[in-house]
Amino acid sequence: MSGRQKSLIRLGINIDHVATLRQARRTSYPDIMQAAKLALSGGADSITVHLREDRRHIQDGDVTLLVAENGLRLNLEMAITEEMVNIACGLSPENCCLVPEKREELTTEGGLDVAGQLEKVSSAVDRLTQAGVRVALFIDAEAEQLEAAVAAGCEVIELHTGMYADAKEGADRDRELARLTAAANKAEELGITVHAGHGLTVQNVSAIAALPQVEELNIGHAIVARAVFIGIANAVAEMKQAIRKAETT
Ligand code: PXP
Repeated sequence: MSGRQKSLIRLGINIDHVATLRQARRTSYPDIMQAAKLALSGGADSITVHLREDRRHIQDGDVTLLVAENGLRLNLEMAITEEMVNIACGLSPENCCLVPEKREELTTEGGLDVAGQLEKVSSAVDRLTQAGVRVALFIDAEAEQLEAAVAAGCEVIELHTGMYADAKEGADRDRELARLTAAANKAEELGITVHAGHGLTVQNVSAIAALPQVEELNIGHAIVARAVFIGIANAVAEMKQAIRKAETT
């Protein structure tokens, strides 16, 4: 048995790429709400969407619909801009995750530099918290960023697992896993809740799901890609099974 004492890991499913497919033709399908409901039926505990500044996939109307859906826990990923903070404060999703954003990137490339922009992050955390949103900061596995998250008044962090996922199996991946393990331990010492995500697949999720501090995983690309072949509910169920197995062995 692992050292996990608390409840089982929650799985958040990022459905941005369902919207990517829709926006490729500017059609009304595939339907975001249908995707969200199917993900929930497959065992997702929450739905994540990233409203990007360039609106390349998720649109404002998608967020409005998802927030309004009864029984759907929404996690809104967003950059710290005046526009996004205003939108989130207005809609008040249950959760939000603050991420860095570059227009030219294919996906979020690194964690948020909380230490380097403490005032800006603190102010966003404060405004969102006052609007009733539970805020997480997406950060790299670095002690300095964890300490800065505490200084910013944030109680939840999402550890960026992208470097771990991209690392070659063997020494490189072990080194990235050791960094994540150390960060998860440090977060526990600091009393911060740990989420994790980025680049996770059925093949690489086990070591992350086995970290006892991890309470939530957010996974998107691998799920939507797999859904092309087996459907979204089955893809979510498959991932959940891999996570459960890792938690209990
Ligand atoms: N967590 C955060 C903060 C992200 O930005 C993303 C990508 O949108 C994910 C998790 C999910 O990453 P992936 O799509 O690689 O599973």
